Amino acid sequence: MQADIEKVLINEEELAEMIKRLGAQISEDYKDKNLLLVSVLKGSVVTMADLMRAITIPCSIDFMVVSSYGKGTETSGSVKIIKDLDISIKDYDVLIVEDILDSGVTLSSLIELLSSRGPASLKLCTLLDKPDRRKVDIKAHYVGTKVPDAFIVGYGLDYAEKYRNLPYIGILKDSAINK
Ligand code: IMP
Ligand code: MG
Repeated sequence: MQADIEKVLINEEELAEMIKRLGAQISEDYKDKNLLLVSVLKGSVVTMADLMRAITIPCSIDFMVVSSYGKGTETSGSVKIIKDLDISIKDYDVLIVEDILDSGVTLSSLIELLSSRGPASLKLCTLLDKPDRRKVDIKAHYVGTKVPDAFIVGYGLDYAEKYRNLPYIGILKDSAINK
């Protein structure tokens, strides 16, 4: 697995530092609120697991699985729910936890959908931000770090469902693509 990595972009120590900083900020900002972390599976599972343990205030968690409608139709603006939340978000201050904000298409539709359910508040936390690839106007309230426009894997991010278990974030070698 390691042999398929061109370069380590963010190492384990840097990831831990980022998570610690985000956790501290979120704990401060939400100390008088009713925090619900919503993880969008599967990519954000590692970020979620680490971030929730870096948060020092009481919080709830829930998970969603979504897929965007009609690949290629970037303006379709709707998401298909594969697995919905178990919890009604009405009285919660919802914080969506994502691995990476890329084109933003899926996430902007998800935000629209969740805000229509009337949560107390709704914000977005993403570990990684790839602003060069943005197709819709969306900004995360909490960002771990910006990343360049390269295909990266690890710490939850996959290529063809592999490499999610790498403990760091790396750039994949061309030779590993379609191997
Ligand atoms: P988008 O913002 O709607 O384009 O979707 C973002 C999703 O695409 C993320 O949640 C990831 O699952 C996936 N993604 C985007 N960039 C990468 C990457 O560099 N490596 C692996 N997955 C990525
Ligand atoms: Mg994802």
